[in-house]
Amino acid sequence: MQEPRGSAATVDPDPTLEMAREVAEGLARQPKQIPAKYLYDPLGSQLFEAICKLPWYNITRAERNLLAAHAPAILPAAGGCDTVVELGGGSGDKLSVLLSAADGRALDVHLVDISAAALAQSERTLATHGSVALHSHLADYEAGLRGALRLRRPDGRALVLFLGSNIGNLSPGEADGFLLELRGACRPGDRLLLGADLVKPESELLLAYDDPLGLTAVFNKNVLARLNRELDADFDLYEYDHRVVWNADASRIEVYLESRSDQLVCVRGAGCCIRIDEYERIWTESSYKYEPAGIVEMGERAGFATREQWVEPEARFALTLFESER
Ligand code: TRP
Repeated sequence: MQEPRGSAATVDPDPTLEMAREVAEGLARQPKQIPAKYLYDPLGSQLFEAICKLPWYNITRAERNLLAAHAPAILPAAGGCDTVVELGGGSGDKLSVLLSAADGRALDVHLVDISAAALAQSERTLATHGSVALHSHLADYEAGLRGALRLRRPDGRALVLFLGSNIGNLSPGEADGFLLELRGACRPGDRLLLGADLVKPESELLLAYDDPLGLTAVFNKNVLARLNRELDADFDLYEYDHRVVWNADASRIEVYLESRSDQLVCVRGAGCCIRIDEYERIWTESSYKYEPAGIVEMGERAGFATREQWVEPEARFALTLFESER
């Protein structure tokens, strides 16, 4: 296959070519990187669902409890909300909790996810909500959001859900840019529900991202198995360890795959071969942790007004409800 970088300026709809380009770019960086979205192939999506059930990973449970407790305030019967968009919702479980409070109201629900397996799972989960018209968008956040809002009814309000601390997987600059774009796509009265994990003791953070069963390690390493399969790479899966670092200055968990030896790896589908040193790390994910006030400031910087914030005190997780006034 040809060196793909030359075609970067053209918009290429072929997802394998885009993956080839992004992986080649990421592995050429210092430190080496693999974009985190590639963790979510069908197996990766299922492994992530299993992580959400681990006793050391509290994000999902804490968020589900907050949603169950505050659903009537989030999805008010009055106020004319007729469209719900969930960005990167995974299994659809949390949306299902929220919709249970909708009391059979007719709603257009748009699911946006980069994983076809996750979309299929959400569709099965949400099929029990008879009054809901489901629309699936196999797309990244930006394209999916645009697609979903293009299809909305001419009046009425939309509720956008950005849960699971997915915002934490964006850098602060990316998060600001994304919220600004989201706000720009909103009409007055549209709402954003943002779920974000909070700073907590380092030991708890490390257990959540480096669990004693090794499931998160498998989830992380699976990205190499995916590159081997889809980009004809030759990563030796036995030669990498899962590494997790809490970077207090940047307020983020950093997730890496660390090489056990000096090795040469070829990613033929991306037209590149790279040298990886012993102990060298490939960065696969960041997960930023916030303070409650920082989340409010972030939404308001993007032009949203804050309606409410609920904090789960044990797991330290926050749901913040914003409204677009413009
Ligand atoms: N959105 C999740 C989070 O930041 C993603 C995640 C959880 C993750 N565990 C992981 C990503 C381990 C990579 C590795 O919590």
